[in-house]
Amino acid sequence: MDAFRFQNPTALYYGKGQIESHLASEVLQVGKRVLLVYGGGSIKRSGLYDKVVGILKDAGVTTFELSGVEPNPRLTTVHKGVDICRTENVDLILAIGGGSVLDCAKAIAMGAKYEGDVWDIYARKGKATGALPLGTILTLAATGSEMNAGGVITNWETKEKLGGGSPYTYPRFSFCDPENTYTVPRDQTIYGACDMLAHCFEHYFHRTEHTPLQQHLIEAVIKTIIENTKAAIDNPTDYHARETLMYCSTMALNGMISMGIQGDWACHAIEHEISAIYDIPHGGGLAIIFPHWMDYTKQVNPARFASLATNVFGVNSEGKSDGELADIAIAKVRNYYREIGAPQRLADYDIGDEQLTTMASQAVRFGEIGNFKKLNKDDVYNILKASL
Ligand code: NZQ
Ligand code: ZN
Repeated sequence: MDAFRFQNPTALYYGKGQIESHLASEVLQVGKRVLLVYGGGSIKRSGLYDKVVGILKDAGVTTFELSGVEPNPRLTTVHKGVDICRTENVDLILAIGGGSVLDCAKAIAMGAKYEGDVWDIYARKGKATGALPLGTILTLAATGSEMNAGGVITNWETKEKLGGGSPYTYPRFSFCDPENTYTVPRDQTIYGACDMLAHCFEHYFHRTEHTPLQQHLIEAVIKTIIENTKAAIDNPTDYHARETLMYCSTMALNGMISMGIQGDWACHAIEHEISAIYDIPHGGGLAIIFPHWMDYTKQVNPARFASLATNVFGVNSEGKSDGELADIAIAKVRNYYREIGAPQRLADYDIGDEQLTTMASQAVRFGEIGNFKKLNKDDVYNILKASL
């Protein structure tokens, strides 16, 4: 495996009753002026907003609010949050929502401590110089943003969606109560499963040798996601399915299963280009792209795909070549997406071939993407074209 340094400072509170017992003390350890960041209103409809505001009020905390964070959060919203932090001398940002809200809060936290425009950090023109402390209350199992330092912001003016982060943007604490995901709609539950699965795949396909534990940990997370998705879709208040998916989403992207390996991440880069132009849900875009990326790259290491077939999908390998097993694995992945009702083609979002060249060139704007297989502009174009 590759040499690595690992540190993840986020305090995780998992399960029922944790917000009631520990939110106030976590907040008060930092300060009494808190910016609440949330989305389009799901937390008001579910009652979570009232619960949190009540707890903070009782603790003597003064709250400010930034609401209306968009799915695929926008830079303009980040700027509004930075302004509030500076004007109101905010001590702590508390993000309540899904990955978009958490990512927006991370950008605000960095922006409040950055002299220029925080977009510099995402556009690779500057480095974070610090961040306000950040806490999260997660309401959607998908991104892993609750326990990682990354975030993705869309600059709608330039049609760019870019990832960024810093050692300062790990949440100080995150509350993950599966009951807060009961109200997640069917489509978002599906997209969330596709996203966490994609994070596993991004780690699984790498070029580092001698990584058996990483391989089996990732396989375990993939299997667990597949085993629990349908239950959460069919019965949104199935506590055990919701808690298991929530734990899978955290584990898929908090660094625990990917130490000592360098994942691929080309599919994420490609999906971000689709979202940057068409504003589609991240998990939906990944479900479309991944099987086509797999078809395109399987020759690099068919044995890796064969492991997916045997260890995850339980395929009997007797008498089959790695190439045959690779095709079976990819078919199984496609089948899973189909069964849970994930989108299959770009046409499902009414996306045609008009912007393929633009998306392909933008995806490689910083150079070739991917580690399992390096992709240039033509490769990205071919994968997008196959996904139409
Ligand atoms: O805005 P509200 O009203 O809260 O509604 C949201 C939103 O419409 C709704 N929702 C969330 N929790 C809910 C709920 N509705 C009812 N009940 C609840 N409990 O779901 C919709 C989608 O929310 P969003 O936060 O956009 O979804 P997700 O968590 O999938 O986040 C997607 C964003 O995260 C980025 C993606 O690119 C995308 O911008 N990513 C962040 C990563 C990270 N920070 O590590 C990694 C990922 O690969 C990903 O790129
Ligand atoms: Zn993702």
